[in-house]
Amino acid sequence: MPDLLTDSESGDVLLSARGISKSFPGVRALDNVQITVRRGRLNAVLGENGAGKSTLMNILAGVFPPDAGEILMKGRRQTFKRPHEAQQAGIAIIHQELNLLRELSVAENIFLGREPRTRLGLVNYSGMHRDAAALLAPLDLSVDPGTQVRKLRLGAQQVVEIAKALSLDARVLIMDEPTSALSDHEVEAIFRLIRQLKARGVGIIYITHKLDELPHIADDVTVLRDGKCVAAEPYGKRPHDELIRLMVGRELAELFPKSVAAIGEEVLRVANLSLRRSEHSADYTVCPTSLRVRQGEIVGLFGLMGAGRTELLQCIFGLHPRRSSGEIWIEGKRRSIRSPRQAIAAGLALAPEDRKVDGLVLAMSVAENIGLAAGATARGIGLADPRREGALARRYMNQLGIKTPTVAQPVRYLSGGNQQKVVLSKWLTIKPKVLLLDEPTRGIDVNAKREIYSLINELARGGLGVLMASSELPEILAIADRIVVLSEGRVAGEFSRDEASEEILLKAALPSGRPPARQAG
Ligand SMILES: Nc1ncnc2c1ncn2[C@@H]1O[C@H](COP(=O)(O)OP(=O)(O)OP(=O)(O)O)[C@@H](O)[C@H]1O
Ligand SMILES: [Mg+2]
Repeated sequence: MPDLLTDSESGDVLLSARGISKSFPGVRALDNVQITVRRGRLNAVLGENGAGKSTLMNILAGVFPPDAGEILMKGRRQTFKRPHEAQQAGIAIIHQELNLLRELSVAENIFLGREPRTRLGLVNYSGMHRDAAALLAPLDLSVDPGTQVRKLRLGAQQVVEIAKALSLDARVLIMDEPTSALSDHEVEAIFRLIRQLKARGVGIIYITHKLDELPHIADDVTVLRDGKCVAAEPYGKRPHDELIRLMVGRELAELFPKSVAAIGEEVLRVANLSLRRSEHSADYTVCPTSLRVRQGEIVGLFGLMGAGRTELLQCIFGLHPRRSSGEIWIEGKRRSIRSPRQAIAAGLALAPEDRKVDGLVLAMSVAENIGLAAGATARGIGLADPRREGALARRYMNQLGIKTPTVAQPVRYLSGGNQQKVVLSKWLTIKPKVLLLDEPTRGIDVNAKREIYSLINELARGGLGVLMASSELPEILAIADRIVVLSEGRVAGEFSRDEASEEILLKAALPSGRPPARQAG
């Protein structure tokens, strides 16, 4: 074990875990792992998808017990039987997959089970809303605490989850990929908050796949690989590429392997496609937009949060039939697309941003999920045959490196990044003509990202047209042939691969004069 943090008995260790092991059927998720959280310091936990990061956090937060090992706080051994016991010991966790109740309001979610009461014992809604607003303000989320959570976009939901953890006033705060769905602006607010919490002496464990976040917040770093701890040391001891090497266990080839495909005929044309705020509104979420994608072409859709990228993709995919209008042409033929079923039949596939809501059925197996989209198309009839379904799933499992003991494993038990790979596989099975991707590498580790980029490139070489929304500039610059920039629901610029740079794209994406659109939905 290289460079273990020395666990002095000094008062600055808030929590230390030693020799933690945990197995699930077919997987040794953690093998003799240690981690130390110190007062006022942030320990960044790194590792590939499936390395065991969330499992370790779940053990620290009392979600389930370890098979072996111990957790010490103030030198005393802790055995958490339930999350509530960890909470009482001062540990709060922001889970990777959001745990909010979608039908309840923001405030109700934050104070669930701990609602402030009036003297008569009734829930004190006004007090609760006031407290919720106070928690949300420093996080830069201007949303009415009475709003139902399901009406919030993903990033906003994540901020609510963070506010909920903060309301517990914990001494140890665990954040499992808290920024994966946030805009830069929100990330800045979270970083400010992290600095304040550290100054107050809170110890933080922070899981991320975005190494460029580390210089802003990290004090220590812990690297997991295949369930083992391969580094635990102060941050800054080695450069990032060395940390990556530790994560993946070998030298990583170039992150962005762009191979240019031959560009063919137009495969998708969108003409004056628009989305109104509501059925009878004259106000647009997406103003009439026209764009086209050719065979073999990867078109990037860039924009700031709220620019309308997700909504535009959803309109193309027939998800808003009542509020959208405009024309969609596939391979030169006008198609009426008023439902996802029609979209799939026309040759479209959409891998959505929020895999938990639109992408996956968590209780179903990897194979069933991968077979799901194919089952919905005429071409896919016959795929319900479990043997063929299994064979198909195994092919994608190997190709994308989906980490699971078998394809019969319920998707619920896969790590976050591996769930994302299942979503992609599912849409690839229907062999679409145009693949619509919304933030395809959210929560994906560096190595798997690379695999996904190569896969997208390979598909493009095979003649597929790709329209990919991404908020990651390096990603979009590296793999798109052409980039369309949206700002406040309109096309604000279009750039070829050679013209585009981070600066040019950002400039085009910034709203003109007005402050950035901050919508809840
Ligand atoms: N409840 C469970 N039942 C079975 N296997 C599980 C369960 N929870 C996790 N696993 C498996 O344990 C391993 C570690 O998963 P974990 O979620 O801890 O990974 P992670 O490092 O958080 O990955 P990611 O970056 O993708 O979130 C994976 O192989 C995962 O499939
Ligand atoms: Mg995880």
